[in-house]
Parts: sequence; structure tokens; C-alpha cells
Amino acid sequence: MNKEHINVWEEDRIGIIQLNRPKALNAINRKMVDEIVDQMQAFDQEDQIRVILIKGDNRAFAAGADIEEMMEETPLSLELLDPFAVWDKISLIKKPTIAAVNGFALGGGFELALHCDLIIAAEDATFGFPEIKLGVMPGAGGTQFLTKAMGRRKALEWIWLGEPMSAREALHYGVINRIVAPELVDEEAIRLARQLSNQAPISLRLIKEAVQAAEDQSLLEGKKIERKNFYVAFASEDQNEGMRAFKEKRPPHFKGV
Ligand code: CAA
Repeated sequence: MNKEHINVWEEDRIGIIQLNRPKALNAINRKMVDEIVDQMQAFDQEDQIRVILIKGDNRAFAAGADIEEMMEETPLSLELLDPFAVWDKISLIKKPTIAAVNGFALGGGFELALHCDLIIAAEDATFGFPEIKLGVMPGAGGTQFLTKAMGRRKALEWIWLGEPMSAREALHYGVINRIVAPELVDEEAIRLARQLSNQAPISLRLIKEAVQAAEDQSLLEGKKIERKNFYVAFASEDQNEGMRAFKEKRPPHFKGV
């Protein structure tokens, strides 16, 4: 299932995408984004997949968008191609997504991680938006995601200065979920993915939609979506199974229907 710039496999109902341009520290070119997005959409549609995991290698999750490719761009080529629009499709993935970060997650690499629902990182991983040092700025959602995660003042400070953010700092500001020893990142990410893959899939999906609404909508609208999703959960067999298992004092077995 491998493609030009990503490796793809499945493990225990987890769909795994590994960025694979090691010589360029997994710098993300257009082809790679297309491959990542296509594969995420394919996993999102596959019944047996419950969680999607994105990772890089030991040196880098991804050191940014491909600077060589970007050097060729003009305002018109960017306007006509709108290369960052495809990233929006990642925000529409319904299943839980996890980024497992070792090494560098800079610029577009940080943005890819921030598009995921959860981020597990090595304690020596390096995040950051160095775009300002290239005379540009984040363009694939970085200003939005980081501001939502850490607030306006801190986000401006980090993006204006363009300095590396340690994994500990990222954890402190609530930008990532967990840090572990570098050699344990994959194991921890898979462990978390497995835990999620045992939860009721429809509930996971409805919760993701409601939490997203908390970021995008007013409190009243968000509460309406939460309420509607709560009611929808009662249409699933898993609701029946979950409550019956509780009564019968046994673990539930969720099927995603
Ligand atoms: N694009 C293209 N190639 C890249 C790259 C990138 N973003 N990041 C690293 N590479 C390449 C290097 O050019 C180098 O290739 P060669 O061996 O052919 O010279 C190879 O990867 C290894 O990199 P270094 O030799 O630089 O490795 P290092 O360990 O000395 O430094 C680094 C690592 C600090 C991450 C450094 O590579 C670096 O600063 N990279 C650029 C980071 C960056 O500016 N990212 C933002 C890009 S803009 C963006 O992402 C816009 C957006 O919002 C979408």
C-alpha cells in the first residue's frame, strides 16, 4: 500500500501513515500532502479501521513544507493552485487522528500534527514555526491552531520569534497531549490508539464533532450539537450494548453500529 512519499499499513484496527522522505527530513511537498489526505480519507471510509495514526521517523516528524518547492511559487501560482486548501480535508476526517512526533515538527510539519486530534511526542522533540525566518508565515492553519491552543499573546510570541518550542513547552501550553522517551513514542501512540479503538466508534465520532463545535461555534450552537449527538447515540446498537454490559457487570463489546 506504499505510495511515493508515504508508507501505509494497518495494525489492530489502526490505520498508520508514515511520512517517508527521510533525506529531506520528511519535508512536505504537494504530492505528499495529496497522498496523506487521500489515505486519511480512505482509512476514514474503511469499516475495520477505528483510529488513524500519522508518524515520521526518528529524526523528524516533518521539518516543514518543502522549501525548494516553495521557492518556485509566485502569488499567482499560489492563488490559482491554492495548495493549502487540501489541508482542510484533514479537518473533516471523522475518526480519531493521532500524531506521533519524534524529532522535528516545524512549519508545515507542526501544522500537520496540529491538524490531528491528539499529539504524542518524544521528550526531545522540537516544534515551532520558523517561517518568519524565511520571510513568510505559517500558511496551513498554524496561526489558527496555535492561537486556539495557547491563546493570542503566546501564539504571537512564538510565531513572531520563530523560535523552537521544546516538547515540554508544548505540553505546558496544552499544545500536545503527552511526552514520553523517544524510543517509546510509537509504543505510546499505538497504546493510545488501541484504547480508542475499543471505545464505541459512533460515540467517538459524535464527540469529535461536538468538541470541534466548541472551537467553531457559539456556546449555544455547540450545546445544541452536543444534545443532538447525545440523542443520535441512542440510535446505535452500541448504546444498547454499553448499558447492558454495565448492568451485566462485563466489559462492553462495541461494533460501531
Ligand atoms: N524543505 C526542504 N528541504 C528540507 C527542509 C524543508 N522544510 N527541511 C530540511 N530539509 C532538507 C535540507 O535541505 C537537507 O537537505 P540536503 O541534505 O540535500 O542539504 C536535509 O533536509 C537535512 O537537513 P539539514 O542538513 O538542514 O539538517 P540539520 O539537522 O542541520 O537541521 C533543521 C535540521 C533545523 C530542521 C533544518 O533542516 C531546518 O531549519 N529546516 C527548515 C525548517 C523550516 O524552515 N520549516 C518551515 C518551512 S515553511 C512552511 O512550512 C510553510 C507552511 O506553513 C506550510
